[in-house]
Amino acid sequence: MKKFFTHEYIDTQIVFIEKCKELLKEKYKKIPKFYLHSYGCQGNVSEGEKIEGILNQIGFMKTENVESADIVILNTCAIREKAQEKVFSNIGNILNLKMKNKEKIIGICGCMVQQEHVKNRIETNFKEINLVFGPHVIHKLPEMLYNVLLKIKKQYIDINEKENIEENIPILRGSKIKALVPISYGCNNFCSYCIVPYVKGRERSRDFNVILDEVKNLVESGYKEIMLLGQNVNSYGIDLDLKDGFANLLYEINKIKGDFWVRFMTSHPKDFSKKLVDVISTCDKVCKHFHLPIQSGCDRILKEMNRKYDKKRYLEIIEYTKEKIKDATFTTDIIVGFPGETYEEFKETLDIVKRVEYISIFNFIFSKRVGTKAEKMQDLVPKEEKTRWINELIDMQNEISLKLNKKYVGKEEIVLFEGLKNTGEDFMVGRTDKNILVCCEKKEDRIGKFCRVKIKKANRTMLEGELVD
Ligand code: SAH
Ligand code: SF4
Ligand code: F3S
Repeated sequence: MKKFFTHEYIDTQIVFIEKCKELLKEKYKKIPKFYLHSYGCQGNVSEGEKIEGILNQIGFMKTENVESADIVILNTCAIREKAQEKVFSNIGNILNLKMKNKEKIIGICGCMVQQEHVKNRIETNFKEINLVFGPHVIHKLPEMLYNVLLKIKKQYIDINEKENIEENIPILRGSKIKALVPISYGCNNFCSYCIVPYVKGRERSRDFNVILDEVKNLVESGYKEIMLLGQNVNSYGIDLDLKDGFANLLYEINKIKGDFWVRFMTSHPKDFSKKLVDVISTCDKVCKHFHLPIQSGCDRILKEMNRKYDKKRYLEIIEYTKEKIKDATFTTDIIVGFPGETYEEFKETLDIVKRVEYISIFNFIFSKRVGTKAEKMQDLVPKEEKTRWINELIDMQNEISLKLNKKYVGKEEIVLFEGLKNTGEDFMVGRTDKNILVCCEKKEDRIGKFCRVKIKKANRTMLEGELVD
């Protein structure tokens, strides 16, 4: 085993869990409650589920009501400035609640606090926050909480950078239908705009068989969708000296008995191989939807971004996938207004969006992150101009999404229903394996089931259909 596999939770934390349980009995008359909110990517949501698992094991019960919670944890994201400012404004709201209840414990964790300048800002301006901890020390939560409960330190901070993989942490999953399964943590790619490698550390792959066992258990306990997560799933296993690690992992997962789907994200185009497409094309449980962030359609900008592929290579893999898997769908991420980008260069992105025909895209205006290479690059295009560009992109994509969605009208699709539409109780919503949202009148409860649905209508974000059987 590589040195980054640790067992600290079992070896050092069980004793603190017991100590915390004792303290909780003394301190609270009723079962104490926790409130946790995760910002950012699915990987962060998955880490939030571990924090919840630990709190649960210690004896806290989950609540959706932040006011009545005895402990409030914000699991933060640092990917863009806006995400970060949202957290700071929420911290303000929560500290107001603390004024009413001084015993409320407040914790801030996740990617944002892993940055030195944010940690300093919290230390100086937000002294009422009890607990500040980074993504590498989640497993030490019992110990940290014990210190806070005993008021040993006014503010307990741990943003240790030791990069590890700690298995055996309990998980309180947010869904009984879809399960998040990280296959790797961190990132080695250092795209010039991105904060992730600085806050999450280098790429570390989980053990192949540990992942397989986790998926087997999830399927046995009734999960219908397994979402494999990594900043770059395509490089899974390189650090474990595995060859074609991700393709083999999908192949083995596909062999697990049961009725379930497998999704994965994110695929980095530079490591997305034809071999992987070949394997996926033979795996009936693996969804034929590919999230392949392009970021920009201009070779000069891609180089500045340190993405390590060009437009030609990107289009080649898309074409290969389309040929091999006829009805494959694609989504992407795009950054608009990278430092130095001209309108002409941005138009190359529009061009590629038109050529690939994504079912949907995630687009972001470039946000300067402290410590990244792009922080120092000259950025002269004003925000209003970038907003005009991004609106042009959104308008174009809206047309494409509508056109693609309309093609499903009259067809029959398999849909995994996930829940009710937020407009009321009458509609169920789910996704096809191509990751297209479908809603259906709720004549009977089919949530958590694969159903055949005849598509009747389409708009740009969703299909509407009727149950076939
Ligand atoms: N690992 C994934 C992306 C993770 S971050 C990948 O490489 O594709 C999700 C998306 O946020 C990125 O794809 C990018 O489009 C966007 N993003 C990251 N840093 C950003 C920044 N500084 N400004 C604007 N968007 C950013
Ligand atoms: Fe960030 Fe690039 Fe790593 Fe994705 S691949 S997390 S964009 S550095
Ligand atoms: Fe955000 Fe950290 Fe994910 S910065 S996008 S929560 S890896």
